[in-house]
Amino acid sequence: MAQISKIGVIGAGHMGSGIAQKMAQEGFDVVMVDMTDEYVGRGISTIKSILQSGMKRKIFSQDQVDTFLSRVKGTTDYNEVADADIIIEAVFEDKEVKTKLFQKLDGICAEKTIFATNTSSFYVHEFADKVNRPDRFIGLHYFFHPAKNRLLEIIPHAGTSKETIIAAETFAKLHGKTAITVKDAPGFAINRFFIPCSNEACRMLEEGMGNVATIDEGSKQAFGIGMGWFDLLNVTGIPLAVHASESLGGELGLFYGTPDILQAQMKKNADWDLKDGPVEVEKIDAIKDRFYGICLGVAAALVDEGVATIEDVNIGAKLGLRWTKGPFELMNDIGIDKTCEVVEAITKKYPGFAMPKVLVEQKTLGIPFKFKTVDLDIKDDIAWITINRPDAMNALNEDVVEQLTENFSIAQNHSDVKAIVFQGAGKAFVAGADIQFFVDNVKAGTIQNIEAFTRKGHELLLKVENSTKKTIALLDGLSLGGGSELSLACQYILATPNGSMGFPETGIGIIPGLGGMIRAQRMIGTQLAKYYVFTGAPITAGNALDLGLFHSVVAPNDIESSVHQIIEDNTHDKYQSKNIPDDFKEIAAAFAAQNIQAILSGDDLNGISQALNDKIKKILNRKSKIALKMANDVMEAQIPLTIADAVEYELGQLETLFRTADALEGLSCAVEHKKPEFKGNN
Ligand SMILES: NC(=O)c1ccc[n+]([C@@H]2O[C@H](COP(=O)([O-])OP(=O)(O)OC[C@H]3O[C@@H](n4cnc5c(N)ncnc54)[C@H](O)[C@@H]3O)[C@@H](O)[C@H]2O)c1
Repeated sequence: MAQISKIGVIGAGHMGSGIAQKMAQEGFDVVMVDMTDEYVGRGISTIKSILQSGMKRKIFSQDQVDTFLSRVKGTTDYNEVADADIIIEAVFEDKEVKTKLFQKLDGICAEKTIFATNTSSFYVHEFADKVNRPDRFIGLHYFFHPAKNRLLEIIPHAGTSKETIIAAETFAKLHGKTAITVKDAPGFAINRFFIPCSNEACRMLEEGMGNVATIDEGSKQAFGIGMGWFDLLNVTGIPLAVHASESLGGELGLFYGTPDILQAQMKKNADWDLKDGPVEVEKIDAIKDRFYGICLGVAAALVDEGVATIEDVNIGAKLGLRWTKGPFELMNDIGIDKTCEVVEAITKKYPGFAMPKVLVEQKTLGIPFKFKTVDLDIKDDIAWITINRPDAMNALNEDVVEQLTENFSIAQNHSDVKAIVFQGAGKAFVAGADIQFFVDNVKAGTIQNIEAFTRKGHELLLKVENSTKKTIALLDGLSLGGGSELSLACQYILATPNGSMGFPETGIGIIPGLGGMIRAQRMIGTQLAKYYVFTGAPITAGNALDLGLFHSVVAPNDIESSVHQIIEDNTHDKYQSKNIPDDFKEIAAAFAAQNIQAILSGDDLNGISQALNDKIKKILNRKSKIALKMANDVMEAQIPLTIADAVEYELGQLETLFRTADALEGLSCAVEHKKPEFKGNN
């Protein structure tokens, strides 16, 4: 696969400077080109001021900011990107300017260089067709602000090679983006429904359905957004909205075109008056219905056209627009009948807009949309199972476990498959389980639901561990709680340097419940397993490799070849006994049997330095005492048991665990992002 390490960004404006900043933050060297020294300087200053404000808010240190800035080179010389692996174009949204630029770069750049356009409104193929490397041409559509917004739309055109698509998808991951791959169609996926919503806000105002304040309130309620639609238009700029709707309307017809009132507002060169009157509560429902009709109708139409999947539309809305729910989740909330009713009203109002088939079919089925949260891709002898809930850091829930089980079974029974690789979409592997599910069931007194969910998880993990195929967890990001436990159940853990694991449970009043204690204990010994389970200390890729928890740590480009090496491997046994590395001997001593009582009662530990003693005591002081005691008791009880019996034992403790006041306090606070106050009561 094409390796991406040197990056060129053309254009040092709002987007170009933000894209370059993001690359630098993620460890890439980047050359940013603009037409004059003044524009280059302005781009660099923008990056500096954003990073410095991050420093003031303690997001970055001075050292980090200096390192990031040292990675960005600004220039007016296009030859500086001649050997780049990828060039991202972010110049004016002008067809001629972009075309000329790409033709110029085509003459300068190496054969290998991939060209990417960040255009918002033109087709990707329009530019690809004008250069001699259409196979190495792709759309990468970033969202403002590109250093902060996680979403990236990847837009291959018909002639983009498979290799370029894979390189773009890998590259997206490498610079911290969650990508959705969508069709080369007007507005791609997100702007296709976002722009009509803006238009409709304006048309509602034009028709007198409500004042600005009321429509803003309606939009907030409809989409769970903090900022009303007119407020957003003021912030992003009315000319941008006019331009976006003009180009979408130009391609797709008047339904998508610019409302007169929006044109007029641009001519006035004034922002919308957000306080043009009181919020008229009685008008809100009709406004919400109209927003839903447009948004859900267009979202469904783009799925009909194969522009994006229902899952990607949801992910895009949540990550790119920061909605609390995606369009198809909103449809499930209001029901398919109501969805069809509000969309039908839109088809009547705008005769050019037809009822989308996907809605008609779902109404016939009479059930909510079911979303794929796990994808299976079998390529030759490797089955790639991807947990695809990047907006929720791929947290495990009932749906995910069910779909993991189904897909694992398909992969397991597939005769070509020799290895089954589990991975997470976006930046994380799996950041634990859906805590809200635990809170809801604890509050409702239905702990049996938690037990049933956990039992299914255990059953899957046992199958993964005992599979006749090679099972591999691919950790190229964070894994916490249930994610770490899923990884430990795999026969191999393959990681990139960004891969890590951790057990945060005792900090939220519970203990690991999916066999993490059982397996960690057998892999790295009781003392170190207790250290990680009790303290929740992050296990970095380097540490995990030294300890023998990870089988190997490789560069992202070497993942596939490493999987093939694992397929050929017949020597690895994850439970083979290991010596404690020198660096970990003192930590292991801290958690030796003679210190456990002191750990549980908060006393000083013996046989270790004062500094380590103080550090451990400070960390443990923030944990639930009940959870620590339970973790210790369960781990001790599990030592002599077989793994299957140890699993049963662990399941048997769930009821007691989830009935503690600490569990409810810790889990509730985790949901509300508050610091828990543990009482230590049973
Ligand atoms: N602003 C957004 O929210 C947003 C979001 C997604 C995509 N986009 C797209 O990103 C692109 C850039 O948008 P922006 O908002 O950053 O615009 P901008 O006007 O802020 O920046 C454009 C920069 O490109 C430079 N430039 C123009 N022609 C050039 C050339 N031939 N060579 C080198 N530099 C050149 C300009 O000097 C300017 O600094 C557009 O295609 C836009 O549609 C914008």
